[in-house]
Amino acid sequence: MNTQHLSCSADDLARAGDLLKRGELVAIPTETVYGLAANAFDEAAVAKIFEAKGRPQDNPLIVHIDTLDTLYFLSDDVPETAAVLADAFWPGPLTIIVPRGEAVPSIVSAGLPTVAVRFPSSETARTIIRQAGVPLAAPSANLSGSPSPTTAERVLADLDGRVAAVVCGEDCEVGLESTVISLCGGVPRLLRPGGITLEQLREVLGDVVADDAIVNPVKEGEAVASPGMKYKHYSPRCEVTIIDGDADGFAAYVNARAADGVAALCFDDETDGVAVPVITLGRRDDEAAQARRLFEAPREADDRGMTTLYAVCPRREGLGLAVFNRLLRAAAFRVVTV
Ligand code: TXA
Ligand code: MG
Repeated sequence: MNTQHLSCSADDLARAGDLLKRGELVAIPTETVYGLAANAFDEAAVAKIFEAKGRPQDNPLIVHIDTLDTLYFLSDDVPETAAVLADAFWPGPLTIIVPRGEAVPSIVSAGLPTVAVRFPSSETARTIIRQAGVPLAAPSANLSGSPSPTTAERVLADLDGRVAAVVCGEDCEVGLESTVISLCGGVPRLLRPGGITLEQLREVLGDVVADDAIVNPVKEGEAVASPGMKYKHYSPRCEVTIIDGDADGFAAYVNARAADGVAALCFDDETDGVAVPVITLGRRDDEAAQARRLFEAPREADDRGMTTLYAVCPRREGLGLAVFNRLLRAAAFRVVTV
């Protein structure tokens, strides 16, 4: 397939909308990461997403909307808490899971009785949804198992030739995927930390449970609230290990293992004393910067031919929890405390 490279001109966004209307796949920028979009009401189009990404059939998709009213079209049973969250955080990097209505084909939710809905803040994403005239099912625009793309170049590296078009827009502002919260059953449950923090959710809702799978590996055969959590994820080619400790402990651990192909993923303000090639993640106290670098940094290690990457350990609070959650998966849960 010859993939069209579209710009963000009004004409090109209209073209993207047309392709989506016709059942084609289009990769689009959002404020979190690039998404691989299809008409959420078109089963055949949605099936193409799974094929193009090599995505396991049991991993449900997020439906992107551009008006709050659409939420009530996608679900017949929107809890009051959803309206409260929408009011506080939409448009923005928050995905809300509600009971799935008749309008949403089962394939979108991988057969689950629920549907994940997000109202992005990215103007480009919203214009494309409006041009398509339908809600868009969209996972991150990477091959399944690869890091999520935050630039058009990374999307093309994975999907050129596999999708009808890529809208080559701005680099993603948040840099990691949306926060996912489920409102289907009991206390609201955080399934994936992201741009909206657990602390912010608790401020608005009071009680919110953080799912175990956020910081623990899912055991073989165990039921999970969010199927995405059980898959190997966000993996660069190099082997990542998180080193949990202060700057001196980190440097000592890494320097003792200096060899060809060994690199360190460091906080910007703590590179002194590290004697192997350094890739930076952002300052220790700047989690927003870390989030933006999170997927690009390990890919840089791959591009430089590194085989082993020792990574610093982000704070487990605020946006840091989301950075930690993604790094843990990139590291297949290898954490060494020094
Ligand atoms: O920021 C984002 O959320 C990006 C952009 C493109 O919007 N999208 C994204 O989609 O990250 P994806 O497919 O890579 O991640 C969606 C996650 C998966 O872990 C999936 O299992 C979970 O959300 N999910 C989707 N629908 C669900 C549902 N009905 N119940 C539980 N988990 C669900
Ligand atoms: Mg993804």
